Amino acid sequence: MSSREAYLYEPLGSQPRPKSRWRELMCSPTRWTAVLIIVVLSLSSIALLTLQTTWQWPWKSSSVVPKIFPTTDDISIPHGAEGPAPYPPAPQDAKQLGQTVYHPFVAPLPAQAIADTRVRPIRAQLELSDACLDRWVSSGQWTDPCTRAMVSEAKIDLVYVWVNGSDILHQAARKTLLAELKYRTKDARFREHDELRYSLRAARAATKMWPNSTWHVITADVPNPHVALESREADEEEVDILESLADSISEDDDQEAEEPEPEPENRLGLVPQWLDIECAIHGDETQPPIRLQHDTQLFRLTGSPGTKLTAKDSSEWLERILPSFNSHAIESQLPQLDPELVSENIVALNDDQFMLLPMPPAAFHTTLYGPVLRTDPGLLVGGDATGKADGGGEWRSLGWSDHLLNQRFGSRKRPYMQHNARSLSLPLMHEAALAFGEYFARTPLSQFRGSHKVPEEFEVNTIFLTGHFMVERHREALLYSWVVLKWDGYVEGMWRDLGGKDGETTIKFDDAAERTTRDDVELNLLMAGVVPPKVEDDHEQGDTTYTWTSMDGYSPRFNSLLPSVSLPRSCLERQSDSWSLFRHLLLEDPACGDQVISALIHKQRSGLGAFLPAATASSSDGDDDPETNPDPLTLPLVLTSNPPALPSNPRRFAVRLIQRYAHVLGDSPTLFVGLHSATDTQRNLRMADTTPATALFCMNDDMSNNAATLRAADKILKTWFEGRWPEKLRCEV
Ligand SMILES: *[C@@H]1O[C@H](CO)[C@@H](O)[C@H](O)[C@H]1NC(C)=O
Ligand SMILES: *[C@@H]1O[C@H](CO)[C@@H](O)[C@H](O)[C@H]1NC(C)=O
Repeated sequence: MSSREAYLYEPLGSQPRPKSRWRELMCSPTRWTAVLIIVVLSLSSIALLTLQTTWQWPWKSSSVVPKIFPTTDDISIPHGAEGPAPYPPAPQDAKQLGQTVYHPFVAPLPAQAIADTRVRPIRAQLELSDACLDRWVSSGQWTDPCTRAMVSEAKIDLVYVWVNGSDILHQAARKTLLAELKYRTKDARFREHDELRYSLRAARAATKMWPNSTWHVITADVPNPHVALESREADEEEVDILESLADSISEDDDQEAEEPEPEPENRLGLVPQWLDIECAIHGDETQPPIRLQHDTQLFRLTGSPGTKLTAKDSSEWLERILPSFNSHAIESQLPQLDPELVSENIVALNDDQFMLLPMPPAAFHTTLYGPVLRTDPGLLVGGDATGKADGGGEWRSLGWSDHLLNQRFGSRKRPYMQHNARSLSLPLMHEAALAFGEYFARTPLSQFRGSHKVPEEFEVNTIFLTGHFMVERHREALLYSWVVLKWDGYVEGMWRDLGGKDGETTIKFDDAAERTTRDDVELNLLMAGVVPPKVEDDHEQGDTTYTWTSMDGYSPRFNSLLPSVSLPRSCLERQSDSWSLFRHLLLEDPACGDQVISALIHKQRSGLGAFLPAATASSSDGDDDPETNPDPLTLPLVLTSNPPALPSNPRRFAVRLIQRYAHVLGDSPTLFVGLHSATDTQRNLRMADTTPATALFCMNDDMSNNAATLRAADKILKTWFEGRWPEKLRCEV
């Protein structure tokens, strides 16, 4: 399939479970000795490796035993600080080289390749009044004063990541780097079945209801062939090809290429050959504009929070990470998408993912409930810092990402994000990429997926990490609001607030909390003027159920309220001050924190009012005015050992903080199939046809390299595609 090799999909639940083998090993003394020797050897080799690879770059931890999250106190969120040098978008002009059309652009200069470290507000939330948001968060009801502040349907952009693996320049660049790194990719997973064309045609039909959408197609890019000819030894056949391509470049490009250091670098972005890109950048009422961006344009250096990065840092970094043929690396830069070009609500797709039915925007995003994550609660990912899991697929990055979340938010297993169209919040992805800055910067050190296997420098899984970051920041906001802002760590008050009696040591609720949250979704959305995600006829429209919303707090089960609560008083008594208690409940004893949240959820039938501090009387001197006296948007990105300054208006701060991380765990009829052969392809496509409620469909090319099989499968696919989506896109040639 033409999607990057990286979208290899492991069958769910196929992870080996090493537990019992360990137990077996631990029972025999001789094995014990062997294990000890292995442990000592591997520890010393890790130590050696770490020593050897100790660079002084800011995005590289320099200590032998890396402290994942420093608890220094000099980390503040830059407020009003200047952003990095701007990188204006390239005009979308097409350029013909031989038979092929490319999109020429200029790569960012190092000074432009530094991430903007300013945490961003969520614009749609800024438009809501304090009074409305307070009512909404505290009661979970979209009623007066909210009815008047109607929100609109979320503006959602689609973001596709695509490469044409058959492109001759791309193949040449890939081959060169593979030889240089002496690395082998598992398989030529760059096959093209023309999926992008039909995935976009499907999207046009499926997103008719979405207002003001733009489609962004992020494609690979290649060096200008003139530069390629000069800078490396190509084999004869390649030289011929490159020369003939170079010949077709116009005069002025020739002159540019003769300069010793072409700076800034001119590159060519890959273009879907069936698309007139100069036409497609303009949308009309039938179809959103299609904007091309390219991998090399996205890379922005991040460091650990508080680090000041220079153009020299980013220049060294770019030197090591480009070109990139690793989709994890490309995805790690999605948080860096230009917020001037891309909406704050996005749905990310690969070209092998298809929206089969029209779906309302609320199936993906609403201002009330936030982005809709589709997780698989049956497939839990545990933290793993060893890097032993398969690096060619997703599992090494998943284990590493969960490990990072564990260090920051407390240890637990977290559900896998389904491999299909994914709702993401750009400002929150950006915040996550800043919070885990050094790890995002290390991800593209693997220029091919899994190729850089150095401890602490594994790839992050951006979808998993940023999605769960939002869930955890919401939990953090609830605990901070209740422990620090409402009670300032006053144990007696907290105990009574939870329903505890004097002399008792445990609070117990034998049943799940009685909440109306799920039943309220539809009415709330209708009151706000938003089309609900649950549909009348699930053959006409794709149906979505909100299985969990953050309006019910936090659930370690991810899809239901806890069936009971048992909260010992000792959970609250271990710490002397409110910030330490907050840290304790957040990170050190997350089970206690979960019990506290669940107990508070029992206090109301809907809303999160139990977590909020009392409203302060509004002061008349304007101190309370968010314009003149802004509180930060968020809590610090790292968990500091000392508390941040208290907000000027605790309740307003808490309400906005909690709403910032609002999210939904949702479920839609989804089909994921692997295509192994022609008959298999036929059967799987028929399955999609005979389950007419299927809203989201992903087909994964698992076929061998047999030419006859591929031809046959291609024909079947083409027939199916054309049958389903016969109508050309605007600007499709
Ligand atoms: C959305 O599009 C409509 C026309 O289709 C236009 O009137 C409106 O200004 C646009 N809104 C935004 C936020 O771009
Ligand atoms: C992919 O590249 C090949 C070789 O240049 C070309 O023939 C084909 O049309 C390209 N496919 C798309 C969708 O651009």
